[in-house]
Amino acid sequence: MIKLSKESLESHFPTMVMVRDYEGIDDLNRNIEKTIKALSMELGQTHQNAATNGDSTTKGGFQTPADMVFLDMKDESVSYLKNHIILPTIEEYLLKVFNVDPLYTPFKVKSWANRLGEGDWQSPHMHPKEYTLISGIYYVEIPETIAPAGHLEFINPALAIIESICFLVKRCSSLVPNLSNASVLIV
Ligand SMILES: [Fe+2]
Repeated sequence: MIKLSKESLESHFPTMVMVRDYEGIDDLNRNIEKTIKALSMELGQTHQNAATNGDSTTKGGFQTPADMVFLDMKDESVSYLKNHIILPTIEEYLLKVFNVDPLYTPFKVKSWANRLGEGDWQSPHMHPKEYTLISGIYYVEIPETIAPAGHLEFINPALAIIESICFLVKRCSSLVPNLSNASVLIV
């Protein structure tokens, strides 16, 4: 007779989200906000605005052009943000989550800036490009609003993967007779 002798629930692929707050950062944020606002005034109505030219998932507002690396722009506050906040945070994440020495782990940072107003939003998306290991957001200014406005929403990426596998299985239904077989594929 077959009996279940042991069962456990194991978390194999947890998504580690590092959250950091900084004190004494108001002046820096004000300066960065000014820089982004100036870019928005200069490029917002042009084809360079990635929020309106179809280059991004941003809906409305302003996003720096796809070919511009925002954190590399020649601006004292943006450079401070990159060197004293973003890079050290990435290094800490590499160390704590991936358990690798950041000194011997070369990485490249892609970056862009967004400026959203009332009614502007981000459509749900992932960053699935190859070699994208970490995604992060730095908030310069957060409006006082009622949720979901001004809020960041996470969707379980593992469920998204299962859904896409099911989708593939449905498309290949002539090869896979019923969806119960899909669980075999997922396992
Ligand atoms: Fe994104």
